Amino acid sequence: MENVYIFDHPLIQHKVSLLRDKNTSAKEFRELVAEISTMMGYEVTRDIPLKEVEIETPIGMARTKVIAGKKLAIIPILRAGLGMVEGLLNLIPMARVGHIGLYRDHETLEPVEYYCKLPEDVVERDAVILDPMLATGGSACDAVKCIKERGVKNIKFVCLIASRTGIDRLHREHPDVGVYCAAVDESLNENGYIVPGLGDAGDRLFGTK
Ligand code: PRP
Ligand code: URA
Repeated sequence: MENVYIFDHPLIQHKVSLLRDKNTSAKEFRELVAEISTMMGYEVTRDIPLKEVEIETPIGMARTKVIAGKKLAIIPILRAGLGMVEGLLNLIPMARVGHIGLYRDHETLEPVEYYCKLPEDVVERDAVILDPMLATGGSACDAVKCIKERGVKNIKFVCLIASRTGIDRLHREHPDVGVYCAAVDESLNENGYIVPGLGDAGDRLFGTK
């Protein structure tokens, strides 16, 4: 699949297995989501531009490279995307954080938007959308549309578990958006939950059920 990055690193696979386990506590779940997000962040930031600088070491002069100052916006989809923010900010502390509030209508499974606050200069930034679950793809497509409407050109979508249906829909509607995920599951159940998935990511993160 073009423009889809599936993380097969053993540490990430191990941690995703722990996330799936229904006996994992909310505390452990939060820690695992943050850890996996940091590890995924290395690949997500791989194309950040560098510039050459000259630095004096104790031995002599070195021509070397530093980040060229590319601006990023990290945009979690509320609620569950919040669990991934800290992991990414650990790597890129200068990134700005926007928030998009969406919930899925239980009947239609379509997203309902209730909040959107993005950095003022978001149009000058590359955007990284965070949400642990890409299920029907409705929430992801809505978030991407909302960010594109603000003029943002370069958008990546980072999730932990994706369904094939979700990836296909996101690709169909927004082929330019790179999808980064730690696992791809085959099916959705009649309530739009990923099978086997990990359950309701928001509830597991925040202990609401
Ligand atoms: C979950 C999840 C995604 C969405 C994915 O959020 O965090 O945002 O469902 O499903 P989709 O791909 O079918 O749109 P939910 O709607 O449960 O809201 P919550 O985070 O507030 O619990
Ligand atoms: N949202 C979740 O939290 N989990 C799923 O499996 C699907 C949507």
